[in-house]
Amino acid sequence: MRKDFTVDTVSDGADETAFVEAYWTRVWEQEGGPKGAVDRIPRKPEFRIMRPYLDQLPKGARLLDGGCGLGDWTLYLSRNELPTHGLDISRDTVAKLKSLFPDSDFAVGDIRDTALPAESFDGYFSWGTFEHFEEGLDRCIAEAFRILKPGGYLFITVPYDNLRQSLIKAFDTKRETEPNHQSVRFYQWRLTRGELRDCLRFGGFQVLDIKPIHKRQGVLRCLHHEFGLSYKWIATQALSALLAPFLPGMIFSHMIMAVARKPVKHG
Ligand SMILES: C[S@@+](CC[C@H](N)C(=O)[O-])C[C@H]1O[C@@H](n2cnc3c(N)ncnc32)[C@H](O)[C@@H]1O
Repeated sequence: MRKDFTVDTVSDGADETAFVEAYWTRVWEQEGGPKGAVDRIPRKPEFRIMRPYLDQLPKGARLLDGGCGLGDWTLYLSRNELPTHGLDISRDTVAKLKSLFPDSDFAVGDIRDTALPAESFDGYFSWGTFEHFEEGLDRCIAEAFRILKPGGYLFITVPYDNLRQSLIKAFDTKRETEPNHQSVRFYQWRLTRGELRDCLRFGGFQVLDIKPIHKRQGVLRCLHHEFGLSYKWIATQALSALLAPFLPGMIFSHMIMAVARKPVKHG
């Protein structure tokens, strides 16, 4: 597992939980807050991977959206006969979601310790959230195991320590591995497929699939970090869209997605 760092401009050195909350609250403010942008969900790679498993669930099966952010996934699935509980650590974002969508099921909570009843969900998905604590993913995985019913599905994405990044880090001796400035702090873990598989198995899950996803985003990041092209330029975005279909996911993808299952009890 490899650490990524960021400059803390939001919390003035607060503890990790407060930093994560402040960081994401600001991200969502900058994005303009919740808008109920549900139309984009069916086009997402996460949805295409999840869908065959969701189709096996009975009507009315309950889902948890761990780290729901702007709430689009919670809204989309709840409106499509899969009642979904959206949980997020950002109090400000959840307050906005509750006031805009009073009939939906949003709550403030921490996925490491949700206080939700044991074995109460048929499925649990969480995009880009399990990796945000320096202690590692184990508490998030243990809590997911506790609240899922036996046979329930877990879908998660985490940043991918792809082959290109591993090689760059291995050969570039000038790159920093640990921060040397006070305001630089831990941001997230980046994992290989094998590392994510081991974490989930250690937590008791059967791992059904692990795939690299978000290749275009990975190419965009490569053009920015390795070739100095700005993310904001339309030309950089167009170039990443053009190149991504021809490039291998294990070298360029930005995230990996795992599908896992809590074993069914026997006897
Ligand atoms: C990468 S965003 C994902 C947002 C949304 N699921 C999506 O796909 O658009 C991560 C979200 O997880 C939330 N988060 C981070 N750590 C959390 C925790 N321990 N418990 C609950 N939410 C958390 C953040 O506030 C943020 O909204």
